[in-house]
Amino acid sequence: LSSVFFISILISYYSVKSYGEELNTKKFPKDFMFGAATASYQVEGAWNEDGKGENNWDHITHLVPSPILNNDTGDIACDSYHKYKEDVSLLKELGVDFYRFSLSWSRILPSGFDNEVNQLGVEYYRNLIKELRAHNITPVVTIFHWDLPQTIQDLGGLQNDFFIDRYVDFARVCFREFGEEVKYWITFNEPSSICYLGYGRGWLMGLASSPGIGEYLCDHNLLRAHAKAWRMYDDEFRKSQNGVVGISISGDWIEPSTDSSADLEASETLLQFTFGLYIHPIVHGDYPEVVRTNVDKRSVLQGFSQSRLPRFTQEEVQLIRGTSDFIGINMYTTSLVTPRGSDNISDISFEADTGVTSWKPEEWENSGSSWLKVYPKGARQLLKWLGSNYKGVKLIITENGYSDNNGTLEDDKRISYYQRYLSNIRDAMEFDGVDLFGYTAWSLLDNFEWISGYSQKFGLYQVDFNSPNRTRTAKKSAKWYSKLTRTKCIVD
Ligand code: NOJ
Repeated sequence: LSSVFFISILISYYSVKSYGEELNTKKFPKDFMFGAATASYQVEGAWNEDGKGENNWDHITHLVPSPILNNDTGDIACDSYHKYKEDVSLLKELGVDFYRFSLSWSRILPSGFDNEVNQLGVEYYRNLIKELRAHNITPVVTIFHWDLPQTIQDLGGLQNDFFIDRYVDFARVCFREFGEEVKYWITFNEPSSICYLGYGRGWLMGLASSPGIGEYLCDHNLLRAHAKAWRMYDDEFRKSQNGVVGISISGDWIEPSTDSSADLEASETLLQFTFGLYIHPIVHGDYPEVVRTNVDKRSVLQGFSQSRLPRFTQEEVQLIRGTSDFIGINMYTTSLVTPRGSDNISDISFEADTGVTSWKPEEWENSGSSWLKVYPKGARQLLKWLGSNYKGVKLIITENGYSDNNGTLEDDKRISYYQRYLSNIRDAMEFDGVDLFGYTAWSLLDNFEWISGYSQKFGLYQVDFNSPNRTRTAKKSAKWYSKLTRTKCIVD
């Protein structure tokens, strides 16, 4: 009997001790917001229902042969178009403060242009927003998460500067139709994925690629579209609607591969080419100096009469500077970096412009996505870098998460990823003074992971893509996340 007593004291001592430590060091502030995210094309389905127009993803997923793994499409996806009430009940079960979702441009404006607003499309989002608010869940709405009306893609998409005003027209319709109920807006999701992976590499946004030229045109148009939409909100809606408008920027933490000054400089350069490329103009009005210097210099040596990186006019600098109420950060992983040995000057790619090489060591912990290696310390490093480079800017993590390939319900690896990343995030707030007001898990549901189809699963809820009604089942991580949202503590 005494040994049982002794053992039970020992067990309670250790559980109280570790729980106590967690409570002391890993509690998030009371008003810190936790949420979960999805995006329209990845979950909605109903690709041609109720008057929706064709978009770039409908277009490329229907090509024969298909460029998408396993010929997967988002035609039905998670069927959230019909199951949004169930999605909201899952969000309720998760206990999240907010739901981040995106609007399908061609569902709202089937022709891509604002000559005709599809009322049924508008109604779908109105109903979703109403359902969320009825359950006290704040909508955080992304205006553009990679699905572009095919009419606009056919004209060059974001590489054509006519995109800017078309985007502003669309954003105006969104603010007008939903802004009474929506107070958090994100103009663009992941500019570097749109421009670099999209128009640079040809992996997203259609299939054409134009490395080192199309991607900079895309960046330039995207930044001006973002700024014009922010100013339009400011002029036409802010007073009456009282919301905030930001943007979500993505990238790896870039760790110097050694502590040599060359590697430290390489890290700083690549961070400027990923995060700085977008945040610097939004905060200060222009591209970071190292980006301008590198691309300008290489363009001259390559025989271009103008830099491949377009210039902002003085008016545009004024237009862009100061156009974000917050910056969203999508963060998943880390890369190591070192300078490139030599510069092959005829190479006009973005990678060559950076002047550095980056990689992820084989031995780092894997996920179900080759680009996502688990490196929790990078989360703190990245936030610290952002906090000290962009003082006074409010930050929110608009995506963070872990993939596997089987969608298992026993997803302890996902829980462990979230615990370790959140612990580093909390440290960045507590010890590095980073001004972070929220965190978003990617994703609420297993969903269509772009050119990888349904092979990479990020969901807190499993979706059975073989069942006609796309049954959702809570994974272990959903139960864990609901403890986090309710206690604001990183629990075991
Ligand atoms: C980036 C994107 O915003 C999202 O659409 C994607 O599914 C996740 N991160 C995971 O790759």
